[in-house]
Amino acid sequence: MKKITVHTLQQMKQDGEKITSLTAYDYSFAHLLDRSGIELILVGDSLGMVMQGHDSTLPVTIEDMVYHSRCVSRGCERSLLAVDMPFMTYQDSPEHAIRNAGRLMQQGGAHMVKLEGGNVMAETIHFLVQRGLPVCGHLGLTPQSVHQMGGYRVQGRNKDQAAQLLNDAHILEQAGASIIVLEAIPAELAKSITGQINIPTIGIGAGKDCDGQVLVLQDMLGLYPQPSPRFSKNYMDNASGIDTAITRYIHEVKTGLFPGPEHSFPGIAKAKTTTT
Ligand code: KIV
Repeated sequence: MKKITVHTLQQMKQDGEKITSLTAYDYSFAHLLDRSGIELILVGDSLGMVMQGHDSTLPVTIEDMVYHSRCVSRGCERSLLAVDMPFMTYQDSPEHAIRNAGRLMQQGGAHMVKLEGGNVMAETIHFLVQRGLPVCGHLGLTPQSVHQMGGYRVQGRNKDQAAQLLNDAHILEQAGASIIVLEAIPAELAKSITGQINIPTIGIGAGKDCDGQVLVLQDMLGLYPQPSPRFSKNYMDNASGIDTAITRYIHEVKTGLFPGPEHSFPGIAKAKTTTT
């Protein structure tokens, strides 16, 4: 069994092989995803919504993330494990960020930390990467900024916003990020970003041309009791079990069947997302 590393993901981008990713928050699901062949498991701070029942990710603490990461890491033998840095654990200074990122890696078993934001986070990303902590960026709909965005809305729909996002992607790459999650942005913009940067992009509501795809597990298994975002798909429809649903998701991402146009946003998007 060959472990997935940041180099594997980089090679997959070069080879044009789609990267599959799902969130997980506990040992049992992590074990299932790992054995199913998912390359990247993300302990998302979406756990604030789907595990804890909050209406945003803002209440999630570093202790929550360390706890769930530790549970997931026990089920992760092959997959690369990325873990979200929660709200207010990295924004104020690189020194604060590295203390919390260090906890996620040392106590939580993370292989990589994820943080939200563009240009403004470049110094922090550089600081972490220079000291040996791999970073995943997150651009577009950044749920920790929900109050600033005025809701969970598609981002990058006008020319200025789109140019800003493209610029941010270049800046994160230069700062040393290993991969970038692109959330809820027009498919054409995600395609353009993916074509212009050398690190893999992982899309969620960002169209089929990203280097990989990620979904929130509870959304794609139809377990979350609140409305799921339009860009998600319930893989339990007509599935005989959870393992079949996961296998079908992997197959559809690898073959380019998911996401379809119905899970993506056009340049001038009319729809707005309901949850992340
Ligand atoms: O928190 C999360 O689960 C995420 C994914 C939706 C990318 O950030």
